[in-house]
Amino acid sequence: MFKRSFKITLMMMIVVVALGTFATTLAQDKGKLEVFSWWTSGGEAAALDALFKAYTKNAPGVEIVNATVAGGGGSAARPILQTRLAGGDPPDSWQTHPGWELMGQYVDAGYVEPITDLYKSEGWDKVMPQGLIDTMTKDGEIYAVLAGVHRGNGLWYNKKLLDANGITVGDTKTSDEFFADADKLKAAGVDALCVGDKDIFATAELFENTLLGTVGGDGWLKLFAGEMAWDDPMVKQAMTNYGKMLDYQNADHTSLTWDQAVGSLIAGKCAFNSMGDWADGEFVKAGLKENVDFGWVSHPGTAGSFVIVADGFTMAKGAPDHDNNLEWLKTLGSKEAQEAFNPLKGSIPARTDVDRTKFDKYHNWSMDSFAKDTLVPSVVHGEAAPAAFQQALNDAVTLFLVDKDVDAFSASLVQAAADSGMTKKS
Ligand code: GAL
Repeated sequence: MFKRSFKITLMMMIVVVALGTFATTLAQDKGKLEVFSWWTSGGEAAALDALFKAYTKNAPGVEIVNATVAGGGGSAARPILQTRLAGGDPPDSWQTHPGWELMGQYVDAGYVEPITDLYKSEGWDKVMPQGLIDTMTKDGEIYAVLAGVHRGNGLWYNKKLLDANGITVGDTKTSDEFFADADKLKAAGVDALCVGDKDIFATAELFENTLLGTVGGDGWLKLFAGEMAWDDPMVKQAMTNYGKMLDYQNADHTSLTWDQAVGSLIAGKCAFNSMGDWADGEFVKAGLKENVDFGWVSHPGTAGSFVIVADGFTMAKGAPDHDNNLEWLKTLGSKEAQEAFNPLKGSIPARTDVDRTKFDKYHNWSMDSFAKDTLVPSVVHGEAAPAAFQQALNDAVTLFLVDKDVDAFSASLVQAAADSGMTKKS
């Protein structure tokens, strides 16, 4: 009797466990979501992971396919993405910069679906700046949602190394002040500039920031509207300054990636790094203290301007996992995700209603800069000009590194501006 009831209980338990497993399998079989990006450095990967965690909370059971292609600035990722798009094999969602990159590479080619409705249903139209939304809008339709907004024109430094060399940094820095610091460091046998241009974007960014520092925010807007020529004396002056800066860079710059150059700064091998605030993501990842271990100031001459490098994500036309992607895009625009992702990435949220106490000093400084400074789009990160011009700039920078020929540099950009059709006059 006892044996029989024991057997029955055991069988019932087995059935219950089997049913439970079946139910769990059913609940978890929510399909996939493929997200394509170039976020592979320590800080980038940690921040991306925070987005995935937020997504999993909202969409439990969906398998995330993290399709990353290493290479800062996406120079290696974008061609691979283009091949997939042209071959009818799109990831569900991919990283893109607004402006020319989004429009020229994806919208005009018909690779993305508008997500205009989400701006209403999620209330993003009320909490995200209209100016940013405009850079993702064509004919009344909006084509991406921003996870965050980077400030491109940062000059980062190893605070302890500068202290040891008697250098203090104020709220702003002029080009002359930078060169005075650089000479002091050189005399002490220290490389003033940390550069990692294994991927050309990093030194192109040094040029972009130096150009802005010379022509100013208004000059920048004129340059890209065709109201200032690429061989204007001010542009040539910027090229000369850039050439001078290169004299202070680390000898191993071509063998380092941008994040390895930040690593060199952290290790005290060199002092300053001109880079977008994804560099801050590396400091955060390394657990460094603001204004103790590292500090920042606007790249020389660029105080009062904010170079926008915004990171958006798309809905592929014919996305293999359309509904899962819808939930992904909703997650990206949510307060929770923006507050989790941006402190790790270095960028500020696209939403203006976040809790600022959740952000460190740098982020609060950058939020203030965004609110009051002249906002200018980055050319190195695809926003200010067509891909052909972006490429021509990279090529011209590559040549300039070798020949330091200012006239040839400016002439090639005059030509590229005309060929790419980006401006009316130059
Ligand atoms: C930019 C991107 C940033 C950062 C950087 C370095 O193009 O917008 O999020 O990842 O490249 O890889």
